Amino acid sequence: MRPTDSPIRLGALFSDSGLTAVVERTQRQAVTMAVEEINAAGGLLGREAVIEAGNSLSDPARARAEAERLLASGVETIFGCYMSSTRRAVLPVVEQRRGLLFYPTLYEGFEYSSHCIYSGAAPNQNSVWLADHMLRRYGTRFYLVGSNYVFPYESNRIMRDYVQSCGGVVVEERYLPLHPSDEDIARVIGDIRRHAPVMVFSTTVGDATTAFYRAYDRAGFDRSTMPIGSLTTGEPELAAMGGDAAEGHLTAAPYFSTIGSPRNARFVAAFRARWGEDAPISANTEAAYFQVHLYAEAVARAGATDVASVRANLPGCAYDAPQGPVRIDGRTHHTVLWPRVGVATARGEFAIVEEAAAAVAPDPYMIDPEPRAWGARALAI
Ligand code: ACM
Repeated sequence: MRPTDSPIRLGALFSDSGLTAVVERTQRQAVTMAVEEINAAGGLLGREAVIEAGNSLSDPARARAEAERLLASGVETIFGCYMSSTRRAVLPVVEQRRGLLFYPTLYEGFEYSSHCIYSGAAPNQNSVWLADHMLRRYGTRFYLVGSNYVFPYESNRIMRDYVQSCGGVVVEERYLPLHPSDEDIARVIGDIRRHAPVMVFSTTVGDATTAFYRAYDRAGFDRSTMPIGSLTTGEPELAAMGGDAAEGHLTAAPYFSTIGSPRNARFVAAFRARWGEDAPISANTEAAYFQVHLYAEAVARAGATDVASVRANLPGCAYDAPQGPVRIDGRTHHTVLWPRVGVATARGEFAIVEEAAAAVAPDPYMIDPEPRAWGARALAI
């Protein structure tokens, strides 16, 4: 790297404490590791990249204030956000200041911003795969439970439409406070018992997921017939709840740490060498990692780091990610990803039980009027 050039400052906006810190900590680690790799390989256009940290404290208003602070200080590109409420609070600030947000988290879809790249799964890349798997394997009766904010409501709307169009039934839809009490969770567990047999689709997040799965475990439901299926229960949440509470439940995601490829083995080894041998790695962690490399690819193509030049070069940027080759879809600003379904094991990992044969293009607006067609958009890259 040329020592005389000033460094390129990149924002990393995640929560170090609060409801979803359990996963956001791993996303911060992933961004840090990717930046270290880029610097070790010569930096961005020969300049060192440095991270300016913002701490959202799992609070949208705080996240927005932190984004303001970073952008006002001259940071142009921010990697960050987990909860959709946080992304929605941050994005107007990023747009107003003509910055760029890389959002590394699965979400509800139905959004586009020319100032945002979405590197987590859209519903056609996870919800549809989960629903299909559960309908084939476990039956038709779904019980929907989520945390009380925008992602679970929107995600449940999509799940309901899809399940019903496939001949399934949604028997109930319930929301828990972001920080549920034991009584809140006991009420939902009692309600699930009244409706049994059902499969549960959970869109709880962070610490609420730990509490809910532990209560489900204590309630003694048979997971071979009544599993919980989720999009938001990844390896960090499994580690928090413990293997006994986790075993037998399902998650759909483009990445699991157990993917058997040499590329993933190298990534997992490097991540654990950097952050500890038990460091959990989920799809959100991996997205946080590869999106920094996609950004670096756009910078290399642009020969510049200003947002206008980078944005113009983002479409088609590709990277050999741990999940498989990924690519930015210029039309939607979302990412071509590899859907998978995993069953949690007692070791706090996922055994992969279903895997897309080809990468799947994002369809964030689920543009086919017939929900049954939402999963049918495979695209080889
Ligand atoms: C989420 O809120 N997008 C998990």
